[in-house]
Amino acid sequence: MKILVFLVLLGLHSAAAVIHSMKHIFTVSSQVPNFPEYVVVAMVDDVQIDHYDSNTRRVVPKQDWMNRVTEDDPQHWERHTARCLDDHQLFKGYIETLKNRFNQTGDVHIFQWMVGCEWDDETGDVNGFRQVGYDGEDFLSWDVKTNTWIAPKQQAVIIKNSWNNDKERLAFLKHTITQVCPGYLQKYVNYGKSSLMRTELPSVSLLQKTLSSPVSCFATGFYPDRAEIFWRKDGEELHENVELGEILPNHDGSFQMSVDLNLSSVTPEDWRRYECVFHLSGVKDDIITKLDKTAIQTNWGKTGFPLGAVIGGVVVLLLLVVGITGFFLWKKNKKGKDGFQPANTSDASSSSPSSSSVGVQNTT
Ligand SMILES: *[C@@H]1O[C@H](CO)[C@@H](O)[C@H](O)[C@H]1NC(C)=O
Ligand SMILES: *[C@@H]1O[C@H](CO)[C@@H](O)[C@H](O)[C@H]1NC(C)=O
Repeated sequence: MKILVFLVLLGLHSAAAVIHSMKHIFTVSSQVPNFPEYVVVAMVDDVQIDHYDSNTRRVVPKQDWMNRVTEDDPQHWERHTARCLDDHQLFKGYIETLKNRFNQTGDVHIFQWMVGCEWDDETGDVNGFRQVGYDGEDFLSWDVKTNTWIAPKQQAVIIKNSWNNDKERLAFLKHTITQVCPGYLQKYVNYGKSSLMRTELPSVSLLQKTLSSPVSCFATGFYPDRAEIFWRKDGEELHENVELGEILPNHDGSFQMSVDLNLSSVTPEDWRRYECVFHLSGVKDDIITKLDKTAIQTNWGKTGFPLGAVIGGVVVLLLLVVGITGFFLWKKNKKGKDGFQPANTSDASSSSPSSSSVGVQNTT
């Protein structure tokens, strides 16, 4: 599950002001019921831009603004689709190779490849990454600085050595990630800028589950995911008796987060000294919510607001988000980064990862 952690870090990292990112995530599974054997997704600034799977066999845009790619590249979707079709067999070969290497038979297995790049639109700095995961664990990764593969697992050492010996291939991988990928990224960010660069303020509510529970300051509906939320007392940010939640995605593309304040040792007269502050990056005015008993939505019926449902919903959402984004991110990781290609189908230890495609787009 290190990959998950890695993804979370990536997410936070890409949240820094002017760093844009693109990743491709390729996922091959065997014997997962009701899930396509092969799925490819690409993300720009953590927004999914397209989708391919082995059931539909077609790459489709997931954002309206991605339709603009055909303006100067009319064959974009056809070419991308052909690439995905080809790569399916390659990735399938990888999973077979790894099953052998781990002495595994039937059962459910998942192989993920993530590849991508980051581009700082102020400094022009470029970064890149490739990661391979097998059955939920990091298997191989590529380091852009040293242009070498790293094997966290003993079973990956032979493959790693072989790939590190193929200098020509390494040079190609580096080129695609540090030159080709950022070119596409800039183009796509330009197409999507009115959407990707928008800011949306959230609605902020105070929620409390039971009389003795902490008061949760809950902000939902904001974009992008570069935001802060905290409690203040007499104008000073509080660090004690507070618990800050993670930023989580809503299914409409916006985000939510919350911060809890434990008020068990605060007298009712002192409540008015507290307020919750929400700050969205790039927006001057914060949303300030005073701690006011009458404004708190509770579970026990005062406001008639179904707080239980809200909190329950949030918990379920959290679990879903952790599960789903974990899964998708993971996928992304594997393939997405720059469409790190899997090595040969016949033997992953053979030196050349097939298409080396850095991204299913041409960038691969
Ligand atoms: C796989 O199985 C073979 C033969 O049964 C055995 O020699 C080998 O050590 C096993 N490898 C692993 C990684 O378990
Ligand atoms: C709130 O603080 C009190 C006193 O410090 C502590 O006993 C209680 O467990 C805390 N409640 C929560 C939910 O953390």
